[in-house]
Amino acid sequence: MAITKQHLIPLFAISFLLFFQLHCSTTSAQAPAQSPAPPGPPDVTKILQKAGQYSVFVRLLKSTQVSDRLIGELKDTDDGKTIFAPTDKAFSALKSGALNSLNDEQRVQLVLFHVIPSYIPLSQFQTVSNPMRTQAGDSGDGEFPLNVTTSGNTVVLKTGLTKTSVSDTIYTDGQLAVYRVDQVLQPLQVFAARSSALAPAPGMSRKAADVDGKSKASSLAMQNLALFVVSVIAFALSL
Ligand SMILES: *[C@@H]1O[C@H](CO)[C@@H](O)[C@H](O)[C@H]1NC(C)=O
Repeated sequence: MAITKQHLIPLFAISFLLFFQLHCSTTSAQAPAQSPAPPGPPDVTKILQKAGQYSVFVRLLKSTQVSDRLIGELKDTDDGKTIFAPTDKAFSALKSGALNSLNDEQRVQLVLFHVIPSYIPLSQFQTVSNPMRTQAGDSGDGEFPLNVTTSGNTVVLKTGLTKTSVSDTIYTDGQLAVYRVDQVLQPLQVFAARSSALAPAPGMSRKAADVDGKSKASSLAMQNLALFVVSVIAFALSL
C-alpha cells in the first residue's frame, strides 16, 4: 500500500500534538519560577474596533475564529505577531462579490495572509527576507508569497496581485504590531486560482472531449442494461 498524502496528514497531526504536549509540559514546569502572570494578551478585534474603519476585517477575524486563535498564540509564544489590517475602504475596493464567493477555507487563508508569525517593528522591515512567511502557509510561487521592500520610511507590500504600503501604525506593544493597509492583500493562491479557473485552460477541450466520451460510454451501458432487463422480462413472461 502506498503512503499517500491522506495517510501523512494524520501522522503529521499526531506528531504535532505530541510535540505540542511536550512543549506545554516543559513550559508549565517552568511556570512557577516566573514572576506574576502579565495581563492577558491584547485582543486584535478590540484594538481594531477602537480604531474604527476596520469593521469588515473585524468581522472576518471573528467569523473565521482567527481572532481567538491569535489570542491563544500570543499567549503561547514569545515571537509575537504582526498584522496588516485593511480598512473598510480597502474591502469595498475589491471586485464586487469577490469576498462572498470565497469558501470558508479561503476566508481563513485570506485573513491569515494578513498575519505574520512574528513581531516586526516598523524599522525592522528592511531586514526581512523575501518572500516573507505569513500564517496562510507556503510562501512559494503561486501560493502565499508576500514581499516587503522599504524605501525611506515607506514599507511596500507586494503579493503578485496587490501592491500597497503600510500607511499607519494602529497599535504596537513590543509583542503585537497592527499596521493599517489601504488595500486588501490578495494572495495568489486564493484570487489568482479563481480567475484562472474561470478562463478555459489550454487542455480543457480535450478534457471536455474525454467527459463527452465517458458519458457516451455510460449511455451505451445504460442501453445495454435496458435491453437486458427487457429480455429478462420477456423471458419471464414467455414461461
Ligand atoms: C518576491 O521576491 C522574490 C525574491 O526576491 C522574487 O523571486 C519574487 O518574484 C518576488 N515576488 C513579487 C510578487 O514581488
